Amino acid sequence: MITNLLEDLLDEDDHDHEEEYDRHSVPGRTQGATLTEQSWYSWHAPYDDLESEQTDRLAAVQDQLVAYLDGTAPGPLRALSVCAGQSRDLLPILISHPRGADVRASMLELDPLNASFLHGALGSTRLTTVDVVVTDAGTTDAYAGRAPADLVLLCGVLANIDVPDTRTLVDALPMLCAPGATVVWSSYGESLADVDEVLRVFAAGPFEEVAVRRGGPWVVGVHRFAGVPVPLEPGRRLFGFRDS
Ligand SMILES: C[S@@+](CC[C@H](N)C(=O)[O-])C[C@H]1O[C@@H](n2cnc3c(N)ncnc32)[C@H](O)[C@@H]1O
Repeated sequence: MITNLLEDLLDEDDHDHEEEYDRHSVPGRTQGATLTEQSWYSWHAPYDDLESEQTDRLAAVQDQLVAYLDGTAPGPLRALSVCAGQSRDLLPILISHPRGADVRASMLELDPLNASFLHGALGSTRLTTVDVVVTDAGTTDAYAGRAPADLVLLCGVLANIDVPDTRTLVDALPMLCAPGATVVWSSYGESLADVDEVLRVFAAGPFEEVAVRRGGPWVVGVHRFAGVPVPLEPGRRLFGFRDS
């Protein structure tokens, strides 16, 4: 279900959210808005190409998600997708994998259009354990009641935040991770230059490297949390996208 923040964002009388609403506008609901404002929506379009860098990265992420579910002991699982977008990665795996129905997943996404897309996609599945949450995943408050998780996706996040924010986010993962949790992350674009630093940041923390797949214009990494979970600290900023 889409939680009430989306309703708040669409409530024209709610002036508290006007600034956020303007920055992440839904075309047709803001004066002067145009279809070009669908940037994080249309960012997903290359996933529909039969062959593209993005479909290769997506396949690499999905291989890791399948490997995780194949290798995980029976029982309920919790998943968090940070900046889930349209969840082209996790949602199809939850639909098709025999363990999919065991996963209670929270898809955290700021863009209401992407969240609506995802909400619509969910409607045609039999999954009843997936929540789409329209929220700023860059604050710890977004994870209250949703963390810790056994599977944490940071796909496409590190490509859009600076190295100091990457350090802050990775350092904060013990607040989001259940014991033995698996973190799946991906990056692409100019931030690939920072990948060795990302690996150093994970290596300096309570994480074991499970896999790193480099596909030229992208990288997909998997790390296992080997530390002790830390209680969620409210009101902390973990990251912000460069363009926001
Ligand atoms: C690069 S896309 C990645 C989408 C998806 N995880 C994937 O890999 O296919 C980044 C997504 O993060 C969302 N986003 C940006 N800032 C965010 C924030 N502070 N909290 C939640 N989502 C955010 C954007 O709207 C966009 O859908």
